[in-house]
Amino acid sequence: MTLSADAETALVAAARAAALNAYAPYSDYSVGAALLFEDGAVITGCNVENASYGLALCAETVAVAKALGEGRRGGLVAVAVTGPADKGAKGTRGAPITPCGRCRQVLNEIAQLGSTDPIVLCVGTTRTERVRLSDLLPRAFGPANLA
Ligand code: THU
Repeated sequence: MTLSADAETALVAAARAAALNAYAPYSDYSVGAALLFEDGAVITGCNVENASYGLALCAETVAVAKALGEGRRGGLVAVAVTGPADKGAKGTRGAPITPCGRCRQVLNEIAQLGSTDPIVLCVGTTRTERVRLSDLLPRAFGPANLA
C-alpha cells in the first residue's frame, strides 16, 4: 500500500500533536508516534519517562501498547515518528529520527500479526525519510516463529 500525500500529512500531524503530551522531564527529548491502520484508525503515543530513569517508555512502544490494548492484532500500514526540533549534534539538528532497536521489535510484533510491512515515516523538521520496517529490522524474530 502506498500512502497518499494527505494521509501522510495527517499522520505526521498526529505524531507531532502526540509529542506535545510527552512526559520527558529528564531527557527534555519529546517524541511522538502515530500508527495508521488499514481501517483508517490512527493511534498515537508519546514517550513517558520515570524518576527511575531506566523505566522510560518510548513513544512507539506506548502507541503499540495502546493499539494492542484496544484489541488490534495487525493491520498496521504506516508509522510516523517525530523528534524534537532543537536537539541533535552539530549538523544533525532536527534531523529525522528512526525508532530505537526495542521499538523496532515492538512494532514488528503488531505488524507481523497482520502480515504487513509498514512504512515508517521518520520525520525531521525539514524532511521526512520513508523506510520499511523490514529494512529497519531485517530477519526479525516475531510471533510467526512461535506459531
Ligand atoms: N525515545 C522514543 O520515544 N523513541 C525512540 O525511538 C527513541 C527514544 C525517547 C526515550 C526517552 O524518553 C527519550 O526519547 C530520550 O532517549
